[in-house]
Amino acid sequence: MRPKLVAGNWKMNGSLAANRSLVEAVRAGFPAAAGCEVAVCVPAPYLQQVGGLVQGSAIALGAQTLSEHAAGAYTGETSAGMLADLGCRYVIVGHSERRTLFGETSAQVAAKFVAADGAGLVPIVCVGETWPEREAGTTEAVIASQLDAVFAAASASRLGLAVIAYEPVWAIGTGKTATPQQAQAVHAFIRARVAARDAAAAAAVRILYGGSVNAGNASALFACPDIDGGLVGGASLKAADFVAICMAASGRELT
Ligand code: PGA
Repeated sequence: MRPKLVAGNWKMNGSLAANRSLVEAVRAGFPAAAGCEVAVCVPAPYLQQVGGLVQGSAIALGAQTLSEHAAGAYTGETSAGMLADLGCRYVIVGHSERRTLFGETSAQVAAKFVAADGAGLVPIVCVGETWPEREAGTTEAVIASQLDAVFAAASASRLGLAVIAYEPVWAIGTGKTATPQQAQAVHAFIRARVAARDAAAAAAVRILYGGSVNAGNASALFACPDIDGGLVGGASLKAADFVAICMAASGRELT
């Protein structure tokens, strides 16, 4: 059984005061013994603060990106070692906003995956197609090439220990969610692609769905056999919504 994982992606949002009240509310709302793993991926300047706020809780700390380099003259960048030093367990790699707005290539994403994995972090590597790519019937080809770049740099067994997030670009921040059937089909494709290289890795790898997950649609998505949780943007900034999504992943109702 793969334990479900719900990871919040705060993106470039937050403040010292807002972070404190958000984490306190999530901690209060989500029982530590619930049957899913929870993480919050926060802006780099707040990692230390939020690391302190989640201490002693079941919430893991994550970052949103990292440098593929270990150290040196890379102004503004953050290394995998620094994230590990600050207590991160997870780091998002290759989010579509990084690929589109910051020009990250699939090869760079793969290098970041290797850097994260090498520092003992669990990479959450994002893949997904744009709407024109879906319309053109190239969803699987796009995702295959994004995944194959990671396979070219890391073994399938390392991917089995990581997390893959399927995030259709057209569903991110748009309120337009993939249907459970659409998402399950792509998740099954991703798992088969991993299985072609390493059956044990395919059975173990957690594949999250991301793209307008909310308290209303989470249960139906998480009920699909190859959907192992969610990567949640907007709804992770609202404690009640995020807790409800975590409860959906745990198979529990809010009381
Ligand atoms: P969203 O973002 O939930 O706001 O659509 C998801 C993501 O970008 O990870």
